[in-house]
Amino acid sequence: MLKNDLFLKALKGEKVSRPPVWMMRQAGRYLPEYQVIRKKYDFFTRCQTPELAAEITVQPIRRFGMDAAILFSDILVIPQAMNIEVQMQPGFGPYLPNPIRTPKDLETVNIPDVEEELDYVMQAIKVTKEKLAQEVPLIGFAGSPWTVFCYVIQGQGSKTFNLAKKCCFSQPQLAHQLLQKITDTTIAYLKAKIKAGVDAVQIFDSWGGMLSPTDYQEFSWSYIQQIIDALKDLAPVIVFAKGGWYALEKMTNSGALALGVDWMISPQKARQLTQNKITLQGNFDPTRLYSSPKKIKSMVKKMIDEFGKDQYIVNLGHGILPDIPLENVTAFIEAVQQYKSE
Ligand code: CP3
Repeated sequence: MLKNDLFLKALKGEKVSRPPVWMMRQAGRYLPEYQVIRKKYDFFTRCQTPELAAEITVQPIRRFGMDAAILFSDILVIPQAMNIEVQMQPGFGPYLPNPIRTPKDLETVNIPDVEEELDYVMQAIKVTKEKLAQEVPLIGFAGSPWTVFCYVIQGQGSKTFNLAKKCCFSQPQLAHQLLQKITDTTIAYLKAKIKAGVDAVQIFDSWGGMLSPTDYQEFSWSYIQQIIDALKDLAPVIVFAKGGWYALEKMTNSGALALGVDWMISPQKARQLTQNKITLQGNFDPTRLYSSPKKIKSMVKKMIDEFGKDQYIVNLGHGILPDIPLENVTAFIEAVQQYKSE
């Protein structure tokens, strides 16, 4: 039995004394203890070595006491397992030297046996569960098919993902075939993660907001819906679509247990679009963690008052930035731990 089940309670919409809190990208670069490991091992070695991945996962929990851990890994382990080379270049980010652009390229893309190709992730989950010793639940994740597709076509990060969009609109058949392959792999992958012990899964649709509402339905949401349908009876599913506020209404009745929101929408508007029917997660502007600890505390209190303490998971509206001072993170987490509604 979990000692702290605030996060799972909030997901199910049960009443809580205060909302749970975690931070997207909490396992990573802003932590000095992560930097120590980062200096010794390259990125994918960190992902592929269960002991290292587990250690990085529990680092933020030890320091700040968040109410959930998220497994250290990356969304790009999926294309890697599908026979697409992915490099992580320090100071540059992901680089895929052989992006998929033609039907011939697509033929080289496999739907792998995930239990074999991504066995290291399942091992990392088992080691992490032991380290966490039932203190807090563990979140597993994957990128949305669209977000993974963006990197696979573009070959690197981008402000516009123009080549990914070009592929959708000039070669829609190719785009849909690749999206379906990524979806099938992601479903098998998340099922294996749940079997290995994660307590909930989050789908990161970081680049969903690049698409118009109509194109979002065709190229992103229809694939996310397949993932939810396949998983919803196995574990709680959270969907976070950055920039996807316009789809909140549709997402509400999708079978997902919670929806992530970014800071482009007010708590009131997000509640209105989702008709108070579903748990919401978010939506503190990550750059607002540059404010003073005092200001952060008052903003967090206000944010909880606005979302309401129930059916709510406190989080950022996107990942934490690498240069956020540790005392500001402490202020963010403490504000939630000390929350009392008047
Ligand atoms: O949330 C966590 O703490 C768990 C770990 C996690 C990482 N990546 C580790 C990581 C998670 C959930 C991700 C998801 C991820 N990866 C997303 C979706 C979430 C988002 O922020 O939008 C995306 C788009 C990626 C792809 C990716 N991986 C990029 C663009 C980069 C480079 C820039 C960056 O954001 O850090 C990575 C590398 C990466 N993944 C790092 C970490 C800790 C930094 C690598 C380093 O230490 O040098």
